[in-house]
Amino acid sequence: MLPEALLLLLHSSIVYAQSRQQLLLNNVARIATLNQPFFVIPSVATQATVSVALCAAGSSPRFFVSNSSTSDSPGSSGGPNVFEIPLDEGQGSWTGGFPNGGVLGVENVGQASFEVGLSDNGTLHERMSSPPMLGDTTSNQAIIFSHVFSNFSLDEPSYPNYTLPSANAPAPTPPDTTKLNFTMFLSPTSTLPDIPKTGCALRAQTSAGRIDREVPWLKDDEGWRHQWFLTGLTPSTNYTAYVVQEGTRVSGPIMFSTKSASFSCPLVASLPFCPGIAYPVPLPPPPAAASFYDASTIPDAISAPLISGLANFTASLLTFACGKDYYSPLASCADCQREYRKWLCTISFPRCSEPNPGDPASFTRVPASPGATGLGARPTLGGPQQVFSALLPQPTSATPRNPNFPSLGREWTMLLPCLETCYAVDRACPNFLGFRCPLRRFNAAATYGVGYIDTGDHDGKQGTGVTGASQDRWGNTWCNAG
Ligand SMILES: *[C@@H]1O[C@H](CO)[C@@H](O)[C@H](O)[C@H]1NC(C)=O
Ligand SMILES: *[C@@H]1O[C@H](CO)[C@@H](O)[C@H](O)[C@H]1NC(C)=O
Ligand SMILES: *[C@@H]1O[C@H](CO)[C@@H](O)[C@H](O)[C@H]1NC(C)=O
Ligand SMILES: *[C@@H]1O[C@H](CO)[C@@H](O)[C@H](O)[C@H]1NC(C)=O
Ligand SMILES: *[C@@H]1O[C@H](CO)[C@@H](O)[C@H](O)[C@H]1NC(C)=O
Ligand SMILES: *[C@@H]1O[C@H](CO)[C@@H](O)[C@H](O)[C@H]1NC(C)=O
Ligand SMILES: *[C@@H]1O[C@H](CO)[C@@H](O)[C@H](O)[C@H]1NC(C)=O
Repeated sequence: MLPEALLLLLHSSIVYAQSRQQLLLNNVARIATLNQPFFVIPSVATQATVSVALCAAGSSPRFFVSNSSTSDSPGSSGGPNVFEIPLDEGQGSWTGGFPNGGVLGVENVGQASFEVGLSDNGTLHERMSSPPMLGDTTSNQAIIFSHVFSNFSLDEPSYPNYTLPSANAPAPTPPDTTKLNFTMFLSPTSTLPDIPKTGCALRAQTSAGRIDREVPWLKDDEGWRHQWFLTGLTPSTNYTAYVVQEGTRVSGPIMFSTKSASFSCPLVASLPFCPGIAYPVPLPPPPAAASFYDASTIPDAISAPLISGLANFTASLLTFACGKDYYSPLASCADCQREYRKWLCTISFPRCSEPNPGDPASFTRVPASPGATGLGARPTLGGPQQVFSALLPQPTSATPRNPNFPSLGREWTMLLPCLETCYAVDRACPNFLGFRCPLRRFNAAATYGVGYIDTGDHDGKQGTGVTGASQDRWGNTWCNAG
């Protein structure tokens, strides 16, 4: 017979042990009310990661993990094998071995609601290194792409059966993304809520705008992205966007601004023959019920010559013994076709834009003459820090750059293609095709944005132009990279 005191003690420690919640491997637990500040971590054969994310503002709990069976109540007082999980903007993780299981302790919890994840394959809560990407905006719409969630590798064709994708091939079948469960959070930058930028906190917010359509899309050979078509936005407003994958992986932020209320070019996107195009073009509004143009509504007068031109180019290219003979140590016929398609799409679909509402003077107002050398990235104009986008006003009387586009009957402003889209074709294609780009130092800047990505001088050093890219994550778009 045991003394009563010991019995009581035993009894209370059994209750105590029972009330500890057990974390499950490869699972996220949501803790809305904390009854008991310790969680049991099961034994895991390989390295495991414990991750935490705060779901609301207003509290600053601390998390301690122990992977030893002798520290059963880890906390700020330390102890053998007790490690604090450092939080960065509301989330953090710790990776180590749990051969005998372990315990997670929470201190200073207050009213906090939070998530705890346990995984044997990397962290479940994550701030992703690559941000989402803006397609473009109108006054009240936007196209936004997630980070690349899946790589795409095209099988390189080989001799003697060297076949290239047909000009009008359907879009490749997207991977199954139901498990990735993408969500988008969008807010005017000026009223961005003061919450931890974690998956559970962002998911609980009401996002601005409405999602008109969302699909996975292979915009370019970087890989698959999730694509959102948003409507119901406010003109001339700076927005901040985050993307949450699987509820716990956060990508972002990016910022972008909507165009002014008078901006009237509609968006075109989701074209299998021009997968990179996702921006406004100088066309009348799309047919009733559609909020943007896609492959089913884009006029044949525009798509047919483009597809035929690409088919003719591909036929000429294939007169070369592709895959048997080599015209370059770096590029193949498949590279040439891909770069040519991108260039052809970029010049065939003129891009409407306007100066950034926050910086309305940031473009060249005087249209360049065909022999002009000056328009382009010129950081010295208007101060050393200021870079002008390659915007060129199109008067009502202007002949459309692509003659298959109807005349708009009003003024608009064109964002010129980046010269690099042309030089990429020049580099990737065999000489016999006779493809030529305008010279950087001579007339290129009348028709292209020059000096943004590569330098504008004779050498055109790659990636060392004034911006190094066609657009940035703060909402600037310098030239049209397709
Ligand atoms: C606990 O984790 C630490 C740090 O990763 C490690 O050095 C130690 O061996 C682990 N303890 C056990 C029992 O695995
Ligand atoms: C582990 O994670 C990687 C990357 O997230 C994923 O590709 C892989 O399929 C995962 N492995 C398992 C066994 O879940
Ligand atoms: C895609 O491939 C690149 C390079 O091979 C790699 O760095 C990247 O992590 C991959 N991305 C995904 C989502 O698998
Ligand atoms: C050539 O390759 C294409 C695509 O890879 C394939 O569909 C076709 O059947 C192949 N033709 C021959 C004769 O092998
Ligand atoms: C996807 O996320 C939403 C919102 O977070 C959630 O309600 C839904 O259950 C999730 N769906 C799946 C299949 O995980
Ligand atoms: C492609 O070639 C055909 C036949 O030579 C020609 O009729 C057509 O106009 C060409 N297409 C373009 C866009 O040049
Ligand atoms: C949006 O706001 C952010 C923060 O104020 C700023 O850095 C960014 O340049 C703005 N973007 C645009 C397109 O105005």
